[in-house]
Amino acid sequence: MQTIKTVADLRHTLAQARRAGRRIGFVPTMGYLHDGHLELVAASRAQCEVTVVSIFVNPTQFGPNEDLSTYPRDFLRDEKLCRDAGVAILFAPDAQEVYPNQFETFIEPGELAKPLCGAFRPGHFRGVATVVCKLFNMVQPDVAFFGQKDFQQCAVVRRMAIDLSLPIEIITVPTVREPDGLAMSSRNRYLSDEERRRALAISRGLLAAADEFRSGERDVEKLVAVAKGHLGGVDRLQYLELVDGDTLTTAQSPLGRTAALCAAAYVGSTRLIDNVILALPTP
Ligand code: PAJ
Repeated sequence: MQTIKTVADLRHTLAQARRAGRRIGFVPTMGYLHDGHLELVAASRAQCEVTVVSIFVNPTQFGPNEDLSTYPRDFLRDEKLCRDAGVAILFAPDAQEVYPNQFETFIEPGELAKPLCGAFRPGHFRGVATVVCKLFNMVQPDVAFFGQKDFQQCAVVRRMAIDLSLPIEIITVPTVREPDGLAMSSRNRYLSDEERRRALAISRGLLAAADEFRSGERDVEKLVAVAKGHLGGVDRLQYLELVDGDTLTTAQSPLGRTAALCAAAYVGSTRLIDNVILALPTP
């Protein structure tokens, strides 16, 4: 595995693989890797001959009162995890490499970025779309892999790829969970033992609603109520919403199209998100 810090080196190294016609898979991350990230790497390795992982804690997707300065980092550990996972290139640019002085051009996502996290994190998806577009231009992959855990991010990135005619296939990989159900997240490390126990309410609620759905329940309010019944233990529920899987607008009863039940909640001072997909054939 090669660790690369500059766009020039990255282009030079990838040029050979591209000339040889190798399929290039890309997994963008902010580091502090866990098994969720590594599942994306495994998906890329299964489909592509060359897998590139990026680690970049992107300042433009954090709000002024968010956790940019405390976001967990352990580069040497991440590097080893990538090497052991069969990553070919680890791209770890610094902020100046990604955002040169006088940077002022952003990607502005539309309606998909407005509900759910977009309503509570103004500018977040503008930062995500901008950095993902930039990373796509740097790596120029054939395929890019994103986790369903960040369901709205997947929707925004897919839309951007279509709208901007990016020649990149976007693949969504199912959420990887801890054995007890908690969705894996770099931010889980902020949780104390007691908070970790209370955080379980989120996945319990969502998975209970998914069970009801599988048993045939199609009423939006009832499905949301099942999840809500579990969520007493969190400190502040930001949203719990059943949305249409394509448009992210509020789902209508009875559910007739694939929907996603999405939640964001604070446990202590840690903000956690999770979702379950309630799959139906979309006519
Ligand atoms: P980060 O939170 O590091 O996540 C990187 C990728 O890993 C994302 O596609 C995310 O959805 C996926 N992921 C995280 N937890 C997962 C889990 N439990 N199961 C499956 N996949 C999981 O998302 C970002 O970084 C950034 O916004 C980024 C796209 C890199 C842009 O800065």
